[in-house]
Amino acid sequence: MTRILAIETSCDETAAAVIANGRHILSNVVASQIELHAQYGGIFPEIASRAHVEAIVPVIERAMREAHLGLDDLDAVAVTYGPGLAGSLLVGVNAAKGLALGRDLPLIGVNHLEAHIYAHWLAVESEGSAPEKLEFPLLALIVSGGHTELMIMRGHGQYEYLGGTLDDAAGEAFDKVGRLLGLAYPGGPEIQKTAQKGNPAAFDFPRAWLDDGYDFSFSGLKTAVLREVQKYNDPPQGHLLANLAASFQASVVDVLSAKTARAAEEFGVTAALLCGGVSANHLLRVETGERVGAPVYCPPTFLCTDNGAMVGACAHQHFVAGRRAGWDLDVVPGLRLA
Ligand code: KG4
Ligand code: ZN
Repeated sequence: MTRILAIETSCDETAAAVIANGRHILSNVVASQIELHAQYGGIFPEIASRAHVEAIVPVIERAMREAHLGLDDLDAVAVTYGPGLAGSLLVGVNAAKGLALGRDLPLIGVNHLEAHIYAHWLAVESEGSAPEKLEFPLLALIVSGGHTELMIMRGHGQYEYLGGTLDDAAGEAFDKVGRLLGLAYPGGPEIQKTAQKGNPAAFDFPRAWLDDGYDFSFSGLKTAVLREVQKYNDPPQGHLLANLAASFQASVVDVLSAKTARAAEEFGVTAALLCGGVSANHLLRVETGERVGAPVYCPPTFLCTDNGAMVGACAHQHFVAGRRAGWDLDVVPGLRLA
């Protein structure tokens, strides 16, 4: 049995988890900074890295305690080294290096986007989650606060980039429009909640189809919502607010699910994996499930948003393949997957 301590600090969650055999969650601790950033309506990088410094040691200690393990029981220490905020990534990478060096353990560097995909390899019992055995090729839609990418996965570690956002990420669009509508940060869950009482056809917001490719664009949609909001003197409320939220959400989900369905068909994948914070969105799950010919899997919400468990699941693949990071492992804020 391999037991890996995995650390994640790429954005605004300080997270650590212990994962057995790349699949079993022995502990999964997430210290969210949402309240800290909510007052600014978005992430304040300098505040994020300082908060990571304060939280990192207690979070790791708690992850070890909840796994009922000591550091000597570990087989490796894994950490996200990119993409993400440089100052935030540095805190996790240095903590992981210190632990690995001090305990003479292998160090494994993990790509945050790949980690989001590997959330599907964790053993969980939740509706819509992936079965134990997944066959390649798979299609991954990675939709988070920082990324919107469609990837074909031909095997462990083998990725082919189909397309991505040309401007805002899907989650970024949810967060920015949430702010325009006067909703709390992060906008994604707030818009989903507000949209429940709204009519998704109330506003005919634009969809950026961008011809037949797999790229995305959400900045025009954001501007269209802004123009609508500017027609009124007061911040939108009641039915108007609900209709704006529902129509915006419908536009984002329409494009994401349609392109995912087309890619799944073109590449003959065995399943589509929804990954990243925005894959917690209920409408996205339902509509993609209806449109894609192959099965569509989604991790439970706590594994969609940033966490250490997914980093541990991903690190396990690298561990068994013999890949190790050197002591010169550095953060790569703009790291790509393919
Ligand atoms: O993966 P994640 O935790 O962090 C990044 O790697 O960026 O994703 C966070 C993003 C935020 O933009 C948040 O608004 C969005 O995920 N999000 C949602 C929902 N829950 C979280 N977006 C739409 N609907 C949701 N239910
Ligand atoms: Zn993420």
